[in-house]
Amino acid sequence: MKLKLKIWRQEDAKDKGGFQDFKVDGIDGDMSFLEMLDVLNNDLVNEGIDPIEFDHDCREGICGSCSLQINGEPHGPDRRVTTCQLHMRKFKDGDEIVIEPFRATAFPVIKDLVIDRSAFDRIQHAGGYISVNTSGNTQDANATPIEKDHADDAFYAATCIGCGACVAACKNASAMLFTSAKVSQFALLPQGEVEAHERVLNMVHQMDKEGFGNCTNTGACEIECPKGISLENIARMNREYLSASVAG
Ligand code: SF4
Ligand code: FES
Repeated sequence: MKLKLKIWRQEDAKDKGGFQDFKVDGIDGDMSFLEMLDVLNNDLVNEGIDPIEFDHDCREGICGSCSLQINGEPHGPDRRVTTCQLHMRKFKDGDEIVIEPFRATAFPVIKDLVIDRSAFDRIQHAGGYISVNTSGNTQDANATPIEKDHADDAFYAATCIGCGACVAACKNASAMLFTSAKVSQFALLPQGEVEAHERVLNMVHQMDKEGFGNCTNTGACEIECPKGISLENIARMNREYLSASVAG
């Protein structure tokens, strides 16, 4: 396949940035989207042009770093996949593909397609943990019985990889889906009960402080989430927040 690419280039957070046109040839349908960018970068290096900066690490849908806006959609046209799992067979010979970084005030551009998602880390640090006494004998893993439904829901919430597609998909750049997944994974388990109130208050406070927008229930986040994190988590976080606020 031969493709036309319109790629966002930006020197740093202060630079205004803009789209540049590129052409790439010899792309196979079995290649991943990132491998297609590797081919382009190889060509650019050979031509003495600065390669396009983009984030990636695991290249298997686990780390959440390969977040790109492709033809206006976070992680591109496929469902329940990250950019690194997107195959070029989703495109046709001669297609033009527009590639941008995720857009949100709380995710400033570092360079080209690389954004700073440390706002998510700070939300996690505000309450995404439990305190466990690890001195003395280790408690048996099965000593605390957990209802199967709760264990399953906590597990699904914990599959959030912090990619930020929910924020990029939302017209308000809300981080409610991400934050609610991180609250839910503990709210559903007895181990999370001890710090439940301070966790939800602190994480929501940090989320607001980072400059993410409000949730207006459009549901775009759930549709674009590569891990299928459910809106039910937002409802659970709202209940947790209300109960923590009432408890004072
Ligand atoms: S909720 Fe989904 S889209 Fe949002 S950060 Fe987690 S995995 Fe990514
Ligand atoms: S590179 Fe890790 S999820 Fe894509």
